[in-house]
Amino acid sequence: MEKPNTYAGVKLCVFDNVTTDPKEAGQIARNLGLDDALSYRLLRALASLGLLKEGPGSRFSITKQGELVGKDHPQALRGITLLEEGLGHYQIWKHLPVMIKDGQQNAFVHEYDCGAFEYAERNPEYAQIFNQAMSSYSRIYTQWVLEAFDKYDFSNIQHLCDIGGGHGHMLSHLLAKYSHMKGSVLELGSVIQNKELLWADKMNVADRCQHIIEDMFREVPSAGAYIMKLILHDWNDEEYVTMLTNIYNGSADSGRVFIVEHLVPDPDTSHFSKLFDIHMMCWGSGRESTVEEYSALLQQTGWNYVQTFYTKNGLIGIAEGAKSKP
Ligand SMILES: C[S@@+](CC[C@H](N)C(=O)[O-])C[C@H]1O[C@@H](n2cnc3c(N)ncnc32)[C@H](O)[C@@H]1O
Repeated sequence: MEKPNTYAGVKLCVFDNVTTDPKEAGQIARNLGLDDALSYRLLRALASLGLLKEGPGSRFSITKQGELVGKDHPQALRGITLLEEGLGHYQIWKHLPVMIKDGQQNAFVHEYDCGAFEYAERNPEYAQIFNQAMSSYSRIYTQWVLEAFDKYDFSNIQHLCDIGGGHGHMLSHLLAKYSHMKGSVLELGSVIQNKELLWADKMNVADRCQHIIEDMFREVPSAGAYIMKLILHDWNDEEYVTMLTNIYNGSADSGRVFIVEHLVPDPDTSHFSKLFDIHMMCWGSGRESTVEEYSALLQQTGWNYVQTFYTKNGLIGIAEGAKSKP
């Protein structure tokens, strides 16, 4: 019940129009060109979810939680809401019970006749929503990555390559923090062709950051270290192996690989990764894994598992692999 309401509020720009100054429901409807009676019921539902507050005389103001999905909030959860709760992804969830019964992880293909990345290549509207959402996720996750890496010694890493690095939000922040490093974002052409969306310029690291259009299953540039954030969980075991082997072959002898994922903890721990895993089941061929599974995968592809770093909130972990024995 929560999701369609929040999506409708974001889509109709409710969270950009309602402020901390209470405003009458009819006025909000007029500002946004909405039906009076129906929009009042949506506002009331959003207030019930804690995103707005309803006061006397049907006057609504925004709450701290509601501000999170507004257009101007620095964490921009708006992009995530438009992707994950929008029609495109909503449709794939209906295949969940049948998939679990049949053992075929194919909801996206079932619905759209191709995988999500191919769909994004063919459908610019989906691509725009998807890439915006990835940048929204990055605004949150980059901070976690910086925090998890806080004590890590980057002095031996001269070139860091971010595989499937989107618009380069995380890599640009790492380059800004570790000023001796240069970096490359390896991505699909459709993602990085619009230069205005790239972060390197905005973060003043463009002179140390290149953008490479390449298929990560084909070739990766030679680098001292590779980072993959929310990449492996998109793919199945066979695809994992191709990707990590490719990176192993491209890497310098002293190379490192950092796998940034929602790591699945013990059976008795309730964790976001166990829920996001079901989203991955519907969206693609991948899954969320435990650190033991990533460690085994690293060993299988020639890497030595070194260690895992966690954020304070434990929501993500970074598993490190080394090409030569540490
Ligand atoms: C789930 S997103 C993660 C993006 C980014 N790492 C982040 O955390 O925000 C996966 C990324 O992989 C990229 N990608 C998918 N297939 C690829 C391929 N074959 N070669 C290179 N990049 C690819 C997509 O364009 C997308 O940006």
